[in-house]
Amino acid sequence: MGSPLRFDGRVVLVTGAGGGLGRAYALAFAERGASVIVNDLGGDFKGVGKGSLAADKVVEEIRRKGGKAVANYDSVEAGEKIVKAALDAFGRIDVVVNNAGILRDRSFSRISDEDWDIVHRVHLWGSFQVTRAAWNHMKKQNYGRIIMTTSSAGIYGNFGQANYSAAKLGLLGLSNTIAIEGKKNNIHCNTIAPTAGSRLTQTVMPDDLVQALKPEYVAPLVLWLCHDSCEENGGLFEVGAGWIGKLRWERTLGAIVRRKNEPVTPETVKANWKKICDFDNASKPQSIQESTGGMVEILHKIDSEEVSTNPTSHATSTASPGYASAIGYKLPSSFSTYTELDCIMYALGVGASVKDPKNLRFLYEGSPDFSCLPTFGVIVAQKSVFGGGLADVPGLSINFAKVLHGEQYLQIYKPFPRAGKLKCEAVIADILDKGSGLVIVLDVYAYSGEELICYNQFSVFVVGSGGFGGKRTSEKLKAALYRLSGDWNPLHIDPNFASLAGFEKPILHGLCTFGFSARHVLQQFADNDVSKFKAIKVRFAKPVYPGQTLKTEMWKEGNRIHFQTKILETGDIVISNAYVDLVPPSDLSAKTHPEGGELQSTRVFEEINRRLKDIGHKEVKKVNAVFEWHITKGGNTAAKWTIDLKNGSGKVYQGPAEGSADTSILISDEDFMEVVLGKLDPQKAFFSGRLKAKGNIMLSQKLQMILKDYANL
Ligand code: NAI
Repeated sequence: MGSPLRFDGRVVLVTGAGGGLGRAYALAFAERGASVIVNDLGGDFKGVGKGSLAADKVVEEIRRKGGKAVANYDSVEAGEKIVKAALDAFGRIDVVVNNAGILRDRSFSRISDEDWDIVHRVHLWGSFQVTRAAWNHMKKQNYGRIIMTTSSAGIYGNFGQANYSAAKLGLLGLSNTIAIEGKKNNIHCNTIAPTAGSRLTQTVMPDDLVQALKPEYVAPLVLWLCHDSCEENGGLFEVGAGWIGKLRWERTLGAIVRRKNEPVTPETVKANWKKICDFDNASKPQSIQESTGGMVEILHKIDSEEVSTNPTSHATSTASPGYASAIGYKLPSSFSTYTELDCIMYALGVGASVKDPKNLRFLYEGSPDFSCLPTFGVIVAQKSVFGGGLADVPGLSINFAKVLHGEQYLQIYKPFPRAGKLKCEAVIADILDKGSGLVIVLDVYAYSGEELICYNQFSVFVVGSGGFGGKRTSEKLKAALYRLSGDWNPLHIDPNFASLAGFEKPILHGLCTFGFSARHVLQQFADNDVSKFKAIKVRFAKPVYPGQTLKTEMWKEGNRIHFQTKILETGDIVISNAYVDLVPPSDLSAKTHPEGGELQSTRVFEEINRRLKDIGHKEVKKVNAVFEWHITKGGNTAAKWTIDLKNGSGKVYQGPAEGSADTSILISDEDFMEVVLGKLDPQKAFFSGRLKAKGNIMLSQKLQMILKDYANL
């Protein structure tokens, strides 16, 4: 069960703690070492009257048990005063539980202005006042935990509680936004909808139920959400009777009800109604970006006439609906902790041996140039793919027993720390239909602290889930050169899959062959120097059985080493269409002279240019605009670039637009990279002034579409 969750040194403010749920929270926090401010106005359940008795009794109870508490009798409407009481008594404020509440139940038409007002003042305004008063203190100390208390009456509606429902669901909106704003300061805000016997519920519940539904059954959730080890932020939970569940929004795939150059009519809405309301394959958007991000794609679809508004037709937009909603879905972050031992074991696993003294740097932590093999990058990231998270992707109801590893791309940004904890963020980049199966293209970014260490792209093949009418290839694939063929012959990642896929015995782990080959290339062309390793791309072509001998054949072309891996005994090619990119010698010297000051964005523009050669005409059709970039460094414009996605098959060049630009964008080199890495939303950057755009500003909405494919540079 782990060690007990303690709150020693933490100062916790519970509003409305003179009875019911608030009292249970206050007692529980105090019992676990917190200093508690027991706030309660002491009026009746309708908000009439006041008094000090309620708060005093709870403080006395806490002190009797050896805990620390002080009472406060202000109304939550005077949030500043209550927070001041906490600071005066204990010198800080760490946790705010917004719990105080009253009821003025009336059927809708009978609600007076006063009934509406007082309910809003206590619940919504009061929680705002108290939380705002604590906010800056929490920001300064880079720590805070906040609870909002909503109600099932707000979530689902309840007869006679229109005023209360409105205020209570208002609290959820408040919580959702401050969870976003507080995140970077380690301030988390979560919302609970409790059910417990109290004086509020005794008017509507039978006595025995009031007795049975103890507030003590709710308090542990509040304590966990307020503990510093809890990462939950922006969650909504229903809780009562010793049960806890989490809620989220669900959205139907919906229907596009407009065609290019035609108005939307109520008749088309009616004709599509069933589809609009059909929750099959529903998505679960988790952020405003996810919710509204699809709109640009919809505009594009309508614009490029990929749409049918006839609900019975099988046009592209309706034929592959399930998976469209999964694209762009971010999997929950995962963490990989490793030590030197893991690096060594990995090196041994891919064939490094002390027999070769040059391998000592991968096998002996005491060697002066000890380093971790770059392909270890797939090991830290693979939990994101094979750790089960794919099963929870909205709209991706597929058979995960049939998952095979098809292709792998890995790029290294920084050498791996010898040991550490990497945070992996994975997002579904695309989903392709290969007929005999579907391919999930998954981008995984691994960070050490704030620093990007490596980027992986996994192509995962799901046998038998194809034929849904989706597209066969994607410009997001790092393997864009290599079309994925229908007669895919993937390696299995787990021996248990062997018989399922008709192999007579378990086959070698695909990533193991991958590690062997990369090590061969590194040895041959980079003298085992991991800092020369930039990226690797492979396609798993055939299975390898343990005991077979691997032979890597390599060709050098500039900084790219093309290679294929064969089985010596049979001559079969097991890794094909593969390459390793080495860091160009000029970049290496730039790295050793950090003051060299090269712009990071340059490489992105160059790569966009390179790729446009393959896919330019498509981008041009999609975007149809010329962007002029002013990249700044230290406040001054350091470079100008033009991305022309309007003329011919598009081009990218340094300097201002040759003709006229549709949009000019001013952004710093650093922010540009943040946008490319998907860490900074261009729209947000625009609204916060970090990105300035002139000309057709709406076009900047297409930026993410253009840039997010280049994150691996
Ligand atoms: P309760 O009536 O026992 O506790 C509420 C406390 O808030 C009272 O002690 C009251 O004096 C205090 N209070 C009222 N107005 C105040 C003000 N302006 N300033 C400071 N304190 C004030 O009720 P209970 O059930 O413990 O409710 C706690 C919270 O949980 C409320 O926000 C309520 O809306 C919410 N809730 C409770 C449910 C339940 O099943 N008990 C269901 C859904 C929500």
